[in-house]
Amino acid sequence: MRYKKPKAFPDNFLWAAATSAYQFEGAYLEDGKTMSIVDANINENYTNTSITSDHYHRFKEDIKLMKELGMKAYRFSISWSRVLPNGRGEVNEKGINFYKELVKELKDNDIEPLATIYHFDLPLCLQEEYGGWSSREVIDDFVYYCEVLFKNLGEDIKYWFTINEQSNMFLLPYLMVFNSEIPLEKQKYEMNHIMMVAHAKAIKLFREMVPSGKIGPAIGISPNYPKSCKPEDIQAAKEADDFRTYLFTDLYVHGCYRENVWRYMEENNIEPTIEDGDMESIVAAKPDFLGINYYQSRVVEYAPEDIENRDVILNTDGKSGTTSFEVNPGLYKGDSNPFLEKTEWDWEVDPIGLRVVLNELNDRYHLPIIITENGIGGIENLTEENKVNDEYRINYLKSHLKQCNLAINDGVNLFGYCPWSFMDLLSTTSGFRKRYGFVYVNRTDKDLKDLKRYKKDSFYWYKEVIETNGQSVIENSEKV
Ligand code: BG6
Repeated sequence: MRYKKPKAFPDNFLWAAATSAYQFEGAYLEDGKTMSIVDANINENYTNTSITSDHYHRFKEDIKLMKELGMKAYRFSISWSRVLPNGRGEVNEKGINFYKELVKELKDNDIEPLATIYHFDLPLCLQEEYGGWSSREVIDDFVYYCEVLFKNLGEDIKYWFTINEQSNMFLLPYLMVFNSEIPLEKQKYEMNHIMMVAHAKAIKLFREMVPSGKIGPAIGISPNYPKSCKPEDIQAAKEADDFRTYLFTDLYVHGCYRENVWRYMEENNIEPTIEDGDMESIVAAKPDFLGINYYQSRVVEYAPEDIENRDVILNTDGKSGTTSFEVNPGLYKGDSNPFLEKTEWDWEVDPIGLRVVLNELNDRYHLPIIITENGIGGIENLTEENKVNDEYRINYLKSHLKQCNLAINDGVNLFGYCPWSFMDLLSTTSGFRKRYGFVYVNRTDKDLKDLKRYKKDSFYWYKEVIETNGQSVIENSEKV
């Protein structure tokens, strides 16, 4: 449905952009910081996390660009091993001071800081000591890390995100370290439960230490569409949503495991160990809002029990057509959507899917929502005039923002939008080959060049969007 007189974006809408520590800061072993599990995960085809965009040394220059862009808020993540080089214990003054200075610089420029506590980068020492997220020992260490952050930054940061994309961490093995001796599915659900308890305890502490702040998770979300109108496919799509999204969001908001997912885990002997007090902690940790990372939708059909199981093979090189989809025997299997355009990385561009998920989450949970990530990655080069013509990014973001506006008109309480990413940074799988930013960073995976920043065409486009509080996007909404 379209609106003849669409409402505008709210006046105090948080026009923002996002990054994460290990993908953006560099300085991975500087000023006391130690390695994290993602620093240790080397792909020889791409650069490592040692320098990335060198934001650690250039944050003031970068914040000037944020100011010029007109950003009202900035979502970044904090590196656990920069603040606590041993994962716990003594605080690294230089590490915490970096974030204090960053936040001060943002606030001096009237940019609201939005902090993510955990974005894939567990201190490597905790992985080596007790197996990281597979051990309940991590819960106390995570809560201690949060205590350090709330004590040092709680007064200055109002909006916090506990954990980024908990669901995707279990789907994408490179973001977690699994023990090859334990069945993978069992480990995934155990680790998920441990992480959920850690998230819940962090929220409890937050309520005590930062009573005027707001906190929630940042969820990676893709709606699952049925491949056909066969009732089996409709049910498969529903179950795909239950396993990939609502398992997590129901725990976050309602504090309980979905019955069908729990029964599936029990019947397959992969249910997590629940200790006394866990569910009480989880149910007491209702978030203030939901952060959602949205890039694409998925198509699924029913997968019979006897179908061969297969892990997802990701297209990490940007060679179209090389993605292989998830298969879950007895539940669902993925396929490509013939109605959607795809990026070089086979990501399916679906702006309407964003309106679908925003409405779905609103109907189920009635919480304010902020889009914590949304964007398109591609291969880009500077022109001879030092420009980057990223019309495809403008089209992607514009079409998604139109759907955000429609969702607001549908009744969704959407209070902010963080395109991924503010500036080019290291992609999780594809190094600097896959760029996302409004600002180009002059380097490649193999050649560090001068790391100079260049504003892309999309920078000027987003600046106008912010200046008009999104009106420049709504005016053309009938062309969606
Ligand atoms: C999200 C992550 O899943 O997607 C980001 O939170 C990531 O860290 C982004 O960079 C895009 O994914 P990729 O693999 O293209 O970098």
